[in-house]
Amino acid sequence: PYPFYAALRESAPVHVLAAFGGTHAITRYDDIAPILKNPALFSSQRIAPGLHLPKEVGEQARRFFRAQNNLIASDPPQHTRLRTLVSKAFTPRRVAEMEPRIRAITRQLLESMLAHEEFDLMAELAVPLPVIVISEMLGVEPERRQDFKRWSDHVVQTVALSQGKLDPGPILQSLEQLHAYLEETIERRRREPQDDLISALVEAAEGFLEVEDLISFTRLLLVAGNETTTNLLGNALVSLLRAPSELARLQATPTLVPSAIEETLRYEGPVQSLMRMTTQDTQIAGHPIPEGTRLFLVLAAANRDPRRFKEPERFDITREDQGQLAFGHGVHFCLGAPLARLEARVALEELLPRVRQLAFASGQEHDIDWGESFLLRGPRRLRLRAERCP
Ligand code: HEM
Repeated sequence: PYPFYAALRESAPVHVLAAFGGTHAITRYDDIAPILKNPALFSSQRIAPGLHLPKEVGEQARRFFRAQNNLIASDPPQHTRLRTLVSKAFTPRRVAEMEPRIRAITRQLLESMLAHEEFDLMAELAVPLPVIVISEMLGVEPERRQDFKRWSDHVVQTVALSQGKLDPGPILQSLEQLHAYLEETIERRRREPQDDLISALVEAAEGFLEVEDLISFTRLLLVAGNETTTNLLGNALVSLLRAPSELARLQATPTLVPSAIEETLRYEGPVQSLMRMTTQDTQIAGHPIPEGTRLFLVLAAANRDPRRFKEPERFDITREDQGQLAFGHGVHFCLGAPLARLEARVALEELLPRVRQLAFASGQEHDIDWGESFLLRGPRRLRLRAERCP
């Protein structure tokens, strides 16, 4: 997608996408950052979920998204109130406390992944790690984890803007099962609180939020946190393998892991675009934009904007330019960023010292299947080969 983004950024920074009902694609850093800082003019609330789904799925799916208080789809002042409530449950301390457990889960997954010289990093590590972590945080029983992952995948499909054909049956079934599961769990935690995130949320929201709102937030954690973190791990490995000197530097200096993760977020962000809708007539980059216009803010294009980043096409794990937009910007800045960074750091810290000669299994990178969504980016499969260090 990057040459296409670059072409838009250089010659059509406000570009009307006819195939998406006149949605305007915005691609320059200096246009996108202020938009994200101005929720009064560029609303998240006006974007109806499930909007782009085939009509019959959309209509039916919408009843599962009827919560009034949906964090990511609200604007201030409602957003401010919700964010305060959920931040009380999803605290930096709760996240930091997960580190030893995340390390233990990672080691266990690596043990089985590295038993073979060739493996699929996505299936063996990048997919299960975030699912297990968020399930444990929420307090989902281990035996429901497979269900949880399937539900998560299907909910992601309702927001991923895939170009491929969707099969409505299984998606609706998953939405229904997940809804029932969360409703029941929330009720159970209300009666018998445990030391988990759902209980903390129920407590923080007592008297403020309906069950439907709590379901919507828990579902958001599931969707927002799984596929994205999975893709961050996959994208980090792809980027490192494509720049072998950077991989060598990282293996020699493990303290560079956090900045390698920041560079991956900039260079191969898991969330490529965000959507907003204008609440009044306005202008972007000198172009008049009417009220009610849907915008695609192409974060991945902004993150490679040469006006903002030096040599943006170079993957440089010691880059000093800060300010990548992969977690968004402003009031909706990713609530799960500390958790995503922690999981990615632990995964790389544990993987890299255990392997030598890490490479694409086919010896080449061109057979990566990036999937069909143009909002979310990450390899579906990533077959690698490595020698295990003794
Ligand atoms: C919001 C990206 C991981 C939970 C966002 C936004 C982005 C984003 C771009 C802003 C949305 C907007 O402005 O419309 C990512 C990426 C991740 C990641 C790239 C992984 C690398 C996670 C994780 C969780 C999470 C692990 C939780 C378990 C959320 C929530 C919001 C959010 C709850 C909504 C915040 C709000 O509206 O105030 N994320 N995310 N994310 N993310 Fe993440």
